Amino acid sequence: MKKKQIYTIASLFSGCGGMDLGAEGGFQFLHKNYKKLPIKIVYSLDWEPSAAKIYDANFSLKCHVADIRNVPSKQIPNHDILTGGFPCQSFSVVAQNPKRLGYKDEKGKLFFEMCRVIRSKKPKVFIAENVKGILSANKKEAFPLIVKEFENCGYYVTYATLNSSHFGVPQKRERVFIIGFKNKSVFDDFKFPEPTTFNKPPILAQVLENESEIDNKYYFSERAIAGLQKTKHFTSMNKGRVQSLDKPCNTLGAHLAKVSINSTDPILLINNRYRMFTPREVARIQSFPESFKLPGAKTALYRALGNAVPPVLMWEVTNSVIEAMIQVKNLEQKRPRYKQLELDLLV
Ligand SMILES: C[S@@+](CC[C@H](N)C(=O)[O-])C[C@H]1O[C@@H](n2cnc3c(N)ncnc32)[C@H](O)[C@@H]1O
Repeated sequence: MKKKQIYTIASLFSGCGGMDLGAEGGFQFLHKNYKKLPIKIVYSLDWEPSAAKIYDANFSLKCHVADIRNVPSKQIPNHDILTGGFPCQSFSVVAQNPKRLGYKDEKGKLFFEMCRVIRSKKPKVFIAENVKGILSANKKEAFPLIVKEFENCGYYVTYATLNSSHFGVPQKRERVFIIGFKNKSVFDDFKFPEPTTFNKPPILAQVLENESEIDNKYYFSERAIAGLQKTKHFTSMNKGRVQSLDKPCNTLGAHLAKVSINSTDPILLINNRYRMFTPREVARIQSFPESFKLPGAKTALYRALGNAVPPVLMWEVTNSVIEAMIQVKNLEQKRPRYKQLELDLLV
């Protein structure tokens, strides 16, 4: 029997594993089955122990806790696909001719770490993910340079902005995926996934917990609300921050633990009471399945979940990458046989 091809992944900046879970598949979300993909994660890394704790509770592989800048590439096992949502907020495109990427602080260096691993390990494919703001960073000058830097690693590079709510996620989170292929035929064959829920996105009401079971600690106090009602912030809060239950949620951030009645993050108004989301609701809004375990402190959960790539969105992207890889592999497997036939005829 033919052995099924399995593609290995090394995952950088793994967080609690949103990207990794999506890449592996084999879970259900909102009654839809996201089949297991032919993927085996052989390495994951994050420097945040609290995120690694959540990761470890949900994957058989243990997340390596380290600063990527201190990890020599040779310590990372060989792999077919490198994944990573690198932090990008601090690029500088200083006046240079020709223009090149610099970095203003330590965080800006992390993109170069991903390039370092790509150059050294030469995976077949890399999948990088980032916020939509990367497109406009540094007066739109940083993004083309980022793409160029990836191309200079020896890859054919394509990118797209995907809105999670168009792919079965009850959230309007928009993320840029930058995907590089070593093989030109796979690059040519690859297509970003087609939206699955463009006209009928899942809505917030589908993923909220039963209101009668919400702990009191998630509600804002009457006093805080009364205080706010006297200020001009109150109208803007009701317009922007209070989420409609019949729509996908606005983008969740990583600082939901600090959400207060005066901050700018999405909140809920149900039965005339204002409250924040519970960690389980954040997990669902991000499309984590119910089977995903949420251990540890609330603060760490909100941060790691809020930082995550929605698993369902990542599943769609990985599925498209795998389809292109398999398609080209199948064609290549057929080709030598024809060549052999031609040679036989020539003899
Ligand atoms: C956007 S989050 C990644 C989310 C993850 N891809 C997911 O889907 O769950 C970025 C991650 O990079 C990690 N990180 C930031 N700087 C790092 C460094 N120098 N070394 C390793 N990890 C780092 C953060 O702890 C954070 O978990």
